[in-house]
Amino acid sequence: MRFIEYSSFSLALISPVLAAVLPSWNSFPGHEPAIDNRTLDEIYAAAQKEGGVLTVFSGGDEIKQGTSTIAAWEARFPGVKLNLTVDVSKYHDSRIDRQFEKTGSDGADVAILQTLHDFKRWKEAGRLLPYKPVNWEDIYSSLRDPSGAFAAISISQFGALIYNSQLLKASDVPNSYAEFVDPAWKGKLVLTYPNDDDAVAYLFSTIINNYGWEWFEALAQQDVQWIRGTGQPSDVVSEGNSSYVLTFTSNPSGAQNIASKVLNEPRLLWPQSAAIFASTTKPESAKLFLSWMLSEERQQTRASQGLYVPLKSLNSTAGPVWNDLYTGVSQFATFMQDRASVERWRFQYETTIGTAQGVSPVLSVLGSTP
Ligand SMILES: *[C@@H]1O[C@H](CO)[C@@H](O)[C@H](O)[C@H]1NC(C)=O
Ligand SMILES: *[C@@H]1O[C@H](CO)[C@@H](O)[C@H](O)[C@H]1NC(C)=O
Ligand SMILES: *[C@@H]1O[C@H](CO)[C@@H](O)[C@H](O)[C@H]1NC(C)=O
Ligand SMILES: *[C@@H]1O[C@H](CO)[C@@H](O)[C@H](O)[C@H]1NC(C)=O
Repeated sequence: MRFIEYSSFSLALISPVLAAVLPSWNSFPGHEPAIDNRTLDEIYAAAQKEGGVLTVFSGGDEIKQGTSTIAAWEARFPGVKLNLTVDVSKYHDSRIDRQFEKTGSDGADVAILQTLHDFKRWKEAGRLLPYKPVNWEDIYSSLRDPSGAFAAISISQFGALIYNSQLLKASDVPNSYAEFVDPAWKGKLVLTYPNDDDAVAYLFSTIINNYGWEWFEALAQQDVQWIRGTGQPSDVVSEGNSSYVLTFTSNPSGAQNIASKVLNEPRLLWPQSAAIFASTTKPESAKLFLSWMLSEERQQTRASQGLYVPLKSLNSTAGPVWNDLYTGVSQFATFMQDRASVERWRFQYETTIGTAQGVSPVLSVLGSTP
């Protein structure tokens, strides 16, 4: 398949037999799809004709992280069955690759993942179906693949401080990551193993680049409750029946007694991205899913919560992600692409705090609560 590299020849010259062994169009320059100009209801009508179940693998670490999306989908598109499975991205992508290796199909129609390096690799292997969803031109151009192989569906983040507002006064909450090694926080911190989640690995690398390994070594002496998964720390903080009242590797759980605070320091922002697999047997249902995820009706909810969104036209109170004073949204993808560097960071963490203990976060008691 060496000749695929020289892709300037006309596709019209390829015999049907040859075409069958070539990867999909997205390996070829000059064959980008048009932007989908249908309404969601028009795509829905096409999707209903496909039948079957749309399978979506969604990166996350608590089953309950998928429930609101599933409920909203079922209410909006009752004629298209959705099976959305939440698991950590590094296990979703492993299963996808193994399934592909064994059967030539990916085991899912759509993937939404934190492991951004996968999308580039799958695109180059011709495994993604190029698609430009309905709001394509409204997505910041740096948050989408120019050929339509994948696009951001949300801007995710870690690094904000999440604390129990009944047990901790706002004025006592740290003003910098440096303060976490203060003896006052001994036995009070619950954090995700940085060697178990590459987003947390990146977050810790930015903090360590600022404060040195001395900071990490001192943190390790703070009787931290290290936990697998980024959902659980805020659950532990909100339970309020332990001394663990503060984390910075989680997002607000929605519990009433949880408050958050963003420090004036670099944290982590990244475009959680989605793609359709070329092996899908339900392309219209998959297109409906992506166009719906990027629709204003979905994105406005996040914008109204003050979160950054990938659409230019929505007025989040957070403003455009590009104006964030401390954190660049594109830096995480660069980190993820260099797998050797990621591995060096992981083993640095493991050298100090040991291997991650416990079952996969989606299987833990806290994580499985629907
Ligand atoms: C929508 O796209 C199709 C195919 O690209 C094109 O034929 C059609 O004219 C477009 N319709 C509108 C209203 O832009
Ligand atoms: C949903 O997808 C998962 C992952 O592929 C699979 O294990 C499960 O059996 C599916 N559930 C249904 C109801 O199809
Ligand atoms: C706190 O409460 C939760 C459930 O409410 C329970 O699962 C957990 O074990 C409790 N933790 C402690 C330290 O008592
Ligand atoms: C966002 O703000 C601009 C300028 O104030 C306004 O024109 C536009 O209608 C707003 N968009 C939404 C979705 O509210």
